[in-house]
Amino acid sequence: MSKKPYYITTPIYYPSAKLHIGNTYTTVAADAIARFKRFTGHDVMFLTGTDEHGQKLQRIAEEKGVTPKEYVDEIVAGIKDLWKLMDISYDKFIRTTDDYHISAVQKIFNKLYEQGDIYKGAYEGWYCTPCEAFWTETQLKDGKCPDCGRPVEKAKEEAYFFKMSKYADRLLEYIESHPEFIQPESRKNEMVNNFLKPGLQDLCVSRTSFNWGIPVEFDKGHVIYVWIDALSNYITALGYNSDNTELYNKYWPADVHLIGKDILRFHTIYWPIMLMALGLELPKQIFGHGWLLVDGGKMSKSMGNVVDPVVLVEHFGVDAVRYFLLHEIPFGSDGLFNNEIFIKKTNSDLANDLGNLVSRTVTMIEKYFDGVIPAPDEKEAVDDELIKLALEVPGKVEKEIDKLKVSDALDHIWTLIRRTNKYIDETTPWVLGKEESRKGRLATVLYNLAESLRITSALLSSFLPSTSAKINSQLGVEVASWNSLSAFDGTSAGTKVNKGEVMFPRIDVDAKIEELNKLSEAQKQPERAPMTPIKEEITIDDFDKIDLRVVKVLECEPVKKAKKLLKLKVDLGGEIRQVISGVAEHYKPEELIGKNVILVANLKPVTLRGELSQGMILYGSTDDDSKLLATNPGDLPTGSIVR
Ligand code: MSP
Repeated sequence: MSKKPYYITTPIYYPSAKLHIGNTYTTVAADAIARFKRFTGHDVMFLTGTDEHGQKLQRIAEEKGVTPKEYVDEIVAGIKDLWKLMDISYDKFIRTTDDYHISAVQKIFNKLYEQGDIYKGAYEGWYCTPCEAFWTETQLKDGKCPDCGRPVEKAKEEAYFFKMSKYADRLLEYIESHPEFIQPESRKNEMVNNFLKPGLQDLCVSRTSFNWGIPVEFDKGHVIYVWIDALSNYITALGYNSDNTELYNKYWPADVHLIGKDILRFHTIYWPIMLMALGLELPKQIFGHGWLLVDGGKMSKSMGNVVDPVVLVEHFGVDAVRYFLLHEIPFGSDGLFNNEIFIKKTNSDLANDLGNLVSRTVTMIEKYFDGVIPAPDEKEAVDDELIKLALEVPGKVEKEIDKLKVSDALDHIWTLIRRTNKYIDETTPWVLGKEESRKGRLATVLYNLAESLRITSALLSSFLPSTSAKINSQLGVEVASWNSLSAFDGTSAGTKVNKGEVMFPRIDVDAKIEELNKLSEAQKQPERAPMTPIKEEITIDDFDKIDLRVVKVLECEPVKKAKKLLKLKVDLGGEIRQVISGVAEHYKPEELIGKNVILVANLKPVTLRGELSQGMILYGSTDDDSKLLATNPGDLPTGSIVR
């Protein structure tokens, strides 16, 4: 009988220099599901990859003096290494810079244009470079990007647009009649009520202000803008629009796109509409998982609270990290990471529950039966409860995975692990071992422990693959098949066990936390602005011509009809001056009032927008002005000279 195809995808990742532990969640979760589906007899296609175009990457590469492709090549190699470290069993890795993807996306774009779904217009709006998102005036939050809170730039350029609204009713109807399409349920309501029902705006799908993207074939100068390029990966990876569509015919529509909740709008609105316009089937399900939060909220580079998966794996092993991720983000909700919760969980669930069970079982088989698993002999009623549970758990795990409830699936496995530990306490093999007459009973107990572990290990193979392999090697058994889990007799008596190293040594919580804290302090790198060339050398006499003074800002208000300007009244130690400062995008007037700042006091006065400016306030800023701060002379009295 041919196997049932199962197609699961992760998002394609932005090639950012360092993926954090939160980023790895989507891929680890998808990996566990893919492995379990393979284990239960499916023909799995597990796709991941990288999303490599866009203005931000072009800018970074330029700053580094390399081509964008050179830059992404290096980062992508690092991402692949990370997936290797995390034991990710992807079947295909797509890069949006791959030739087949580029040509398939161009064909998609051409078709949408030819059938009138894409038209040329002009885009005017606010653009957030880090998020690669356009925003309308009303969408901005305090004048900044509503997603990341960073400053936005005004942008107007010729662009192509996709007529989203044309398909909105069809999509709404589809979502309402397919309750399983967007999961979890709460996310569906959010998408329908916040985005679909209020009406969809047309989507900007090309850009002209940068060129690191897939060129629009019929209009040079335009590159295809992010979402058509990125989302199409789910079908181009299968050969859609290529000479060989075998995989596409076999695997599309996808069983599930697993994504973080932040990119749900793109996957549940833009993507289905694109597919409808192309006349293709929609994916069966889009699942938006929650966030892994750290103390203090979302993990982000600018907050300096990112947790490096590589460091965790070095200290605790890959399966401790996989276990934490898979177990601590319950179905659809957020989960919390900190070193203490992580270490305590590793100690209790992995070292105590699982590690002890394996080591006790193998040790007792060595001690009482010379390391050879005995054949079961005398049975007692207490065995039945364990056997019944061991036979029920595989089906329960399968049901949870079908609903993508990975954390709940692990709970079932741990119920079996804890029940098996309890069985040891109930049957007291160390007491049985003292009497020769109880040898037959002892044989049954140890056989049952080994068999329960065989089933446990088989189930764990999808979630903690290397731990499962270690258990098998200690028990001397082969990888169990899914079908063999339907009977409690798969362990062959006579098998030799091999006591191995302790799988999860107990961790001293306080000492380890201290070690990790020291490490992260040492690794903290000061944030650096890119190095720009130093200006021509001057003498001290040149510098002496500039009169710098500490002044206090007494009043501050916007300048009418000048978005960037603020009007300040500053106290120069007796004299009050008016200064016009171009920082309205970075400071609200009330934020400057009361501040001590530095003034270039002998600068020739000028009139700006009809307002006199007697001097210039000094600000420190990054090259692109994305960060700007008034220089702070601390508690120096107003009027002090700065030199
Ligand atoms: N390139 C887009 C996806 C395009 S798919 C057609 C993207 N990339 S990403 O690198 O920013 O994100 C990759 C995945 O990491 C997303 O699923 C995102 O939701 C997830 N996460 C990022 N931070 C996370 C946490 N703190 N916790 C859990 N998942 C997180 O978005």
